[in-house]
Amino acid sequence: MKRLVAGGALLLALCGPGRSIALEEVPFVTTPTPVVQGILDLAAVGPSDFIIDLGSGDGRIVIAAARERGARGFGVEIDGRLVDRANEAARGAGVADRAEFLVQDIFETVLSPATVVTMYLLPDVNLALRPRLLGMLRPGTRIVTHDYDMGDWEPDARVHLQAPGKTVGLRKESDLFLWLVPADVTGRWRAADGTVLEFSQRFQKVSVRVRGQGRTRIVEGRLRGDALEIPASGPGEPGWRLRVEGERLVGTRVDAAGGEQAWLARRDGK
Ligand SMILES: C[S@@+](CC[C@H](N)C(=O)[O-])C[C@H]1O[C@@H](n2cnc3c(N)ncnc32)[C@H](O)[C@@H]1O
Repeated sequence: MKRLVAGGALLLALCGPGRSIALEEVPFVTTPTPVVQGILDLAAVGPSDFIIDLGSGDGRIVIAAARERGARGFGVEIDGRLVDRANEAARGAGVADRAEFLVQDIFETVLSPATVVTMYLLPDVNLALRPRLLGMLRPGTRIVTHDYDMGDWEPDARVHLQAPGKTVGLRKESDLFLWLVPADVTGRWRAADGTVLEFSQRFQKVSVRVRGQGRTRIVEGRLRGDALEIPASGPGEPGWRLRVEGERLVGTRVDAAGGEQAWLARRDGK
């Protein structure tokens, strides 16, 4: 609630009362330096990462990722003067070979190279980008947003930080949200031992109908990227720790006594 109220204050500060917020009206507001560090920490950015900042402003997030974490990436920004400034800053920081900035609309950016996507935009813009994020990013890609979440797609983690250098709103604090893009497991999967798992899925949450040994049980499971955890549906029942590998679920079946057995299922229909 506190976050919503504070977020409302920021929106008013940015857009003024009575003015509707159109998608193209995300203003240039910088993420304070400690919050940039918080974003990189929450996404666990490292040398093997490729980061894309949607609406990159002066380029500080991608430049910090390149300079301090050894990552590569690019930022896209609608304002050409900010793009020039960001490329100049990347040269000044000695990372122009790994951090690049382009004049481009965030709704036209090809997101598929990313292992990390960062966004400091507005709530309706986050929501409008959601289908592109889910459709274009590989399972396990980390998305971090600053101050605004993604509606009914619940974050996998969140942190609240002091943000003394914040230039908008009364609140000198920031919220960061992390999502891991979930693999798509919707449909039916069949194992060699005759077990059939049927999934319905809402983002990272799955409801699993387990059929086997003449019984049907329903259990709630969870995806973290391509890692799928299905707990036991009750006493004496097995659970699973699996990885989604294209058309296969690969991992272990954990019996009621804690014994683990290699387990494999194949997709058997949507
Ligand atoms: C709140 S600022 C964030 C800047 C930077 N990412 C940071 O966190 O310091 C949002 C940026 O998005 C840019 N922007 C707004 N709409 C855009 C669009 N449709 N395509 C690309 N950039 C956009 C704005 O010009 C602005 O610089």
